This record gives sequence, structure tokens and C-alpha cells, in this order.
Amino acid sequence: MELVYVAFGSNVGDRKAHVEASLDCLRNTPGISVLRVSGMIETDFVGAGPEQERFLNGVVELKTSLTPMALLCVLQALEAAAGRKFPHETNQPRELDLDIILFGSRTIDTRELVVPHPRYHEREFVAGPMRELGVDVDVWVPKSSPLVIDSVEMLTAKVAEWLAGDCLVGLVPTMGSLHEGHKSLMRAAREQCDRVLVTVFVNPLQFGPTEDFSAYPRDLAADTALCRDAGVDVLFAPALGQMFDEQFSSYVAVGSEAEGMEGSVRAGHFQGVATVVARLFAMARPHRAYFGEKDAQQIAVVRRMASDLGFPVRVEPCAIVRESDGLALSSRNVYLSKNDRQASTVLYRALCSAREQFRRGTRDRDQLLGRVRAVLATEPRCRPDYVELRREGDFSELPPGNVVGGRLLVAAKFVDGDRPVRLLDNVSLAKGEAQ
Ligand code: PAF
Repeated sequence: MELVYVAFGSNVGDRKAHVEASLDCLRNTPGISVLRVSGMIETDFVGAGPEQERFLNGVVELKTSLTPMALLCVLQALEAAAGRKFPHETNQPRELDLDIILFGSRTIDTRELVVPHPRYHEREFVAGPMRELGVDVDVWVPKSSPLVIDSVEMLTAKVAEWLAGDCLVGLVPTMGSLHEGHKSLMRAAREQCDRVLVTVFVNPLQFGPTEDFSAYPRDLAADTALCRDAGVDVLFAPALGQMFDEQFSSYVAVGSEAEGMEGSVRAGHFQGVATVVARLFAMARPHRAYFGEKDAQQIAVVRRMASDLGFPVRVEPCAIVRESDGLALSSRNVYLSKNDRQASTVLYRALCSAREQFRRGTRDRDQLLGRVRAVLATEPRCRPDYVELRREGDFSELPPGNVVGGRLLVAAKFVDGDRPVRLLDNVSLAKGEAQ
């Protein structure tokens, strides 16, 4: 028999009658013994949603031989008997709400059930009645959110728990130094998945010998706070040895998607990206993985790798997030000097100018590329690495002549600050992106 605490609440109809009827049913359910019921308290509705009546809340202590899922089914049947519609819509008035808060000393993390109930200790309408029943709520404070994990073993155990609980898992791989661009990936994952895993790992395999691996910005405390804000469930921040031990020697060879552009300027970069992402896919077994379109070529490389190696993951591209002056958000923007920061807006201006030309009827590939280069040339601080127009999807080269669409991509260096900063940007000719 397990000792279980169930919170009840009602704010529609005869609230007391709904609660008392459900308590009577629990008393008569085989496998359940109701031990004690807290006093009932009246509380205001908390949360976003329509204005609604006050709640009648309390907590019931019981012992049960039922499994957590079987008890959950009983509670849902009681909610339905009181008139509550399924599936539940969040923040709506309800005839009856029955939530498992604690189930013995178990932790459960499945799609239907999370125990200890997250945030219960912050809700006085649950924590108050629990204290009245003599429960030390602080002992049961759920793990901090997000749960920060640094070992592969813990990550794979957590993922196994989620998958066994039928959760749809969304992965946001990052190198940290998180900003609003990353947050938009997390939000997309939060909306579409049951569990969101963010990884923070500055991957040495994707940096060339003269690149900024050691100087890459790192701030795990700030990253954790941003993940908390975005409702991330787990933040995986492994040390180097967890990802690649001393014997590590297998790499993913990449194909045509990695040719040209970043692939030419940064030799070995995409092999390093594909290898680390494959390793993350193998560990985290996500259903969906979220990548920002700023690194558009990376998305093509990762898609090809996932499909060729048979990872059952959907790669989800997310739109570029920009500063109000158009600069695409990047962890490296912090290294721009004041003057270079001002100058850096030329990238988006140049892309928009060519896109505008396309919209007005120019179809010739070289004229469109020429327009981007001409605008970039107006800014002497900007040192372009490449300007390209590539086919959407696989990023194959478009032959000279007329085009019907494609993606314009640019990479350029700004060298005024303490260290040179290399920025990427791109726009789709076809898609109507806000200017
Ligand atoms: O886009 C990035 O931040 C990195 O390339 C990635 C995908 C996290 C792999 O290290």
C-alpha cells in the first residue's frame, strides 16, 4: 500500500457536493482507503484564462494498492462523473479537479502523470492543506526546473522514462550562450512536444584550429535561467569527456550538402556538427529536433545525416529571430565593437534589397547576387566571405540564368573588436519574411 495525497478543487455548480460525492466514491473504491481529508478552503483562481468563480480546494490522504496509472484512471472517471469534459482544456472553470500530488516516495514522469506534482509547493491552495495534514512540503519540493544533467547515463535514463511514458520528446541542441533565437526554438518544442530537452555543449569538433573554440562565450547559470523561462524540462550540459572520451575516433562523413559556403570556409566544420548531432540523437532519441534557419546549411546537413543514418527524428527549422534593426541574433554578436555592431545591419539590408529586386521582377541569378554584393560594398567594415543563391532544401548550386526562387546566403567578417566576428544571414526569395 502506498501513501498518496490527492488535491481536489471545484469552481462550477455545487462545489461542495462535487467534492463530497468524489470523496464518497473514493471511500467505496476497492484498493483505496481514505485516511484523512483536510479542511476545505476557498481560493481565487490563479493563472491565465477567463474570469471565473472562486475554488473550493483541499487535499485527501489515502492509502492504495492501485498503480499510479490505475489511480489516475479512477480520478479521471470521478472528474467525468462530476460533469468535467475531456480532454481537459487548461485554465477553464471545472466541476472537479483531482490531482495526484505525491505517490509514496515515487517520482513519475510520463505524458499523463508527473509526480511529485510540479509547482504544488508554490500553490498555497495545495501546500496549505498538505501542511494541515502534517506533510513537510519542503521535503517534497520537486527538483529544480529545468533539471540540469551532466552525465550521459542520467540523460539516457531520463529519456527512457519519458519514452516509456509515451512522451513526445523535443530536442534543442545548442552551444549555449542562449538568446531569444534559441528561446524561439524552445518555445516551438514546448508547443509541439510533451518534454523539452536542451543540450548545451561547445563542440570542439566543429571548430577549426584558428577558430574561437576557447573564446566561445559560456555562461551556464544564464543559460539555465533562460531555459527555466522557456519551460524546458531538462538541460543537458556535459563535460567534454562525457561526449567524446579519449578513445573517441568515429566521425560522420558528410556529403554534397556540406559543400561550398560554410563547408568551404570552415574545413571539417560540418563533419564536426554531424558527428555531435548524431551522438545527441543517439543519446536523446528525440521525435523532433529544432534548429535555427540562420544556420541554414547546417539544417540541410543534419537532415541528410538523420535520414542516411536512419534516426527517426523530424528536423524542424525555425525562423531567424532578429534585433529591431534586422541583425540576426547570434551568440557571437556580443563580440562586435560598437561601430561593427552598427555596420553589421548591412547584411540584412543587402539581402532584403536583392529580395525586393526579385519581387519587382528581376530573375537573373547574377544580377541578384550583384545587388547583395553592391549593398555590402557600401559598408567598408564588412568583409564578405561569400554571397550565394542556393536551391531551397538541399542547398545545391543554381546555374547562371533565371531563377524561380531560392535562398540568398551571406557570411562576412567584422574585425574591429577584440577578435574578428564572423556573421551569417540568409533570406528566402519566395517566402514573405517580415522586413
Ligand atoms: O547550431 C549550433 O549551435 C551547433 O552547430 C549545434 C547544432 C548545437 C551542434 O554543436
